[in-house]
Amino acid sequence: MPDTASALGAPAERREGPQKVTGTARYAAEHTPEGCAYAWPVPATVARGAVSAVDATAALAVPGVVEVLTHLNAPRLGKPDDATLSVLQDARVPHRGWYVALVVADTLEAAREGAAAVQVTYAEEPYDVILKADHPEAYVPEDSDGTSGEHVRGDAEDAFAAAAARVDALYRVPPLHNHPMEPHAATAHWQDGRLTVHDSSQGATTVRDVLAGLFALPKEQITVVSEHVGGGFGSKGTPRPHVVLASMAARATGRPVKLALPRRQLAAVVGHRSPTLHRVRLGAEADGTLTSVIHEVTAHTSRVKEFVETATAATRIMYPSPHARTTQRVLPLDVPSPSWMRAPGEAPGMYALESAMDELAATLGIDPVELRLRNDTQTEPDSSLPFSSRHLAECLREGARRFGWSERDPRPRSRAEGPVLVGSGVAAATYPVIVSPSRASAHAYPDGSFVIRVNATDIGQGARTVLAQVAADVLGVPLDSVRADIGNSDLPAAPLAGGSCGTGSWGWAVHEACTRLAARLAGQRGQQLPPEGVGATADTAGEADADSGYSRHSFGAHFAEVGVDTVSGEVRVRRLLGVYAAGHILNSRTARSQFIGAMTMGLGMALTEGSTMDAAFGDFTEADLAAYHVPAHADVPAIEAHWIDEDDPHLNPMGSKGIGEIGIVGTAAAIGNAVHHATGLRLRELPLTPDRVL
Ligand code: MOS
Repeated sequence: MPDTASALGAPAERREGPQKVTGTARYAAEHTPEGCAYAWPVPATVARGAVSAVDATAALAVPGVVEVLTHLNAPRLGKPDDATLSVLQDARVPHRGWYVALVVADTLEAAREGAAAVQVTYAEEPYDVILKADHPEAYVPEDSDGTSGEHVRGDAEDAFAAAAARVDALYRVPPLHNHPMEPHAATAHWQDGRLTVHDSSQGATTVRDVLAGLFALPKEQITVVSEHVGGGFGSKGTPRPHVVLASMAARATGRPVKLALPRRQLAAVVGHRSPTLHRVRLGAEADGTLTSVIHEVTAHTSRVKEFVETATAATRIMYPSPHARTTQRVLPLDVPSPSWMRAPGEAPGMYALESAMDELAATLGIDPVELRLRNDTQTEPDSSLPFSSRHLAECLREGARRFGWSERDPRPRSRAEGPVLVGSGVAAATYPVIVSPSRASAHAYPDGSFVIRVNATDIGQGARTVLAQVAADVLGVPLDSVRADIGNSDLPAAPLAGGSCGTGSWGWAVHEACTRLAARLAGQRGQQLPPEGVGATADTAGEADADSGYSRHSFGAHFAEVGVDTVSGEVRVRRLLGVYAAGHILNSRTARSQFIGAMTMGLGMALTEGSTMDAAFGDFTEADLAAYHVPAHADVPAIEAHWIDEDDPHLNPMGSKGIGEIGIVGTAAAIGNAVHHATGLRLRELPLTPDRVL
């Protein structure tokens, strides 16, 4: 094959694709060291209280069961920053599903049978699991990074009262679950005081560091391998209880231990998107110019730790308005701990804001694309910093052109095909540019091959491929000659695959290491390289995390066409089209795949996904894929993702912004707005299931 694929931006194919489709790629639970035992956890069956007694007699009598760990006999751990990792350390039960025991056995079947036989007695306590915006314990959390707390400009209430046009609406996004295809799993192995763990994680460096603290070991004595990861969407962004339990059980039994969490247990222990209750008030002049923006959000957190679904963050940077107030509130309940799920904060926040913008457009009789164009800006409203680049208007115009927006009759219920009402909607999207310091190394060998090393993680996005492209581009060599070693904590330390920051962060370090290597090679021109090759390293600390002086965000525009069946109430998405401005796109094939994947997740958020906190049990009702409906192929139309190439010198040496999350951000609002256009109905609670539509 000609080497056209080495250039940045080229559609190079995923390097590990053949391994994945032939089943030879090995995931965390597919490593089985000699003598490996299997673990199965026991979740609490009460919503709040304490374990008062554990009877493991029957469990230990199951043939093959070797150990039952509880808070009474489990190894003591150091105190983690993340209290969800303090497993089996005390008798507290902070929520239903919290782990109270772990059974280890010679076989998976015996472990499972043993877990069912463990008798746990609880001292139950009254509990509270229902999110209410006016709950007396809700509070405004501290704002450490601008995404939380309360931000005020001018006098938003007065300006709202005086506005020529007003929208005042409540929106609700339910709890959502990440449900990656590969469940959370770890295989842990202690040998001579060294711990080796294969973990399904979005960042093995963090897992190693956290395990070092928990088990009081030097980092050098731990290796965490996350070679292939079957999705995470944030739920594997931090270490989860499974990796701690597997490591504990391996230490306690002296055998390697494998633990793959059953899918039905995931909802309680790997994080979820907190439900959010929104009140959005928009005030505008008759020409659509916003004069007041008020966005108030209440999210829940657990009693174990504070996690804030920062759903007002995007509202602070989207539209200029002289008067604005954004208020984030959080309510601790006896629920599982929420955590990151794709575009945490932006996805639910922009659902509410962009739905309200559509309501404002309808109130004013202004086209919703035009309303957004009239409220565009090159200065971030909240900080007054200039955007390093903001091509929202270009995304809206390009999307409208490609979608055929100008042919749209703006009147609701203006298009019917028999009992099916057809409509279209638009919404804007944004996601911050996050960059973290990373290390990397690059080596050249006498046979003309190159190896780059960085503890990046491939969670499906194609990290090996794009990092090899970055290296090949800097070195000016064929892509095939570059190997990328990733997914192991013994490699140069790197941040997680999360916050859409992976490629920009790792790529920066790879770029720097390769630039240095190229300089060394230039100095040795004509000489044979030594057998061990020559290398260069890079560490972008102090550089990647320096203040750029700019507000840096990706922007995008989403367009949706839906058909709403007035007999069944079913909403089908017929077309989805996204246009993004996210710096330079480094691999058009894998980038398109990420955009489309996130838009599909947004489609699920709009129409099928949602979880119910059951007040009677204090638990999520939808615990598996039979009840929690992610979109199936038949739900997903041909999705189009396009982009506008941005030249932004304030990002990183590749000029890239993150692309993993923005695709979900505006999708649900665009679909909801299309449902309004089709039916004339304003549905402000997701998902838009038939019971709500009829
Ligand atoms: Mo993403 S929710 O930061 O993995």
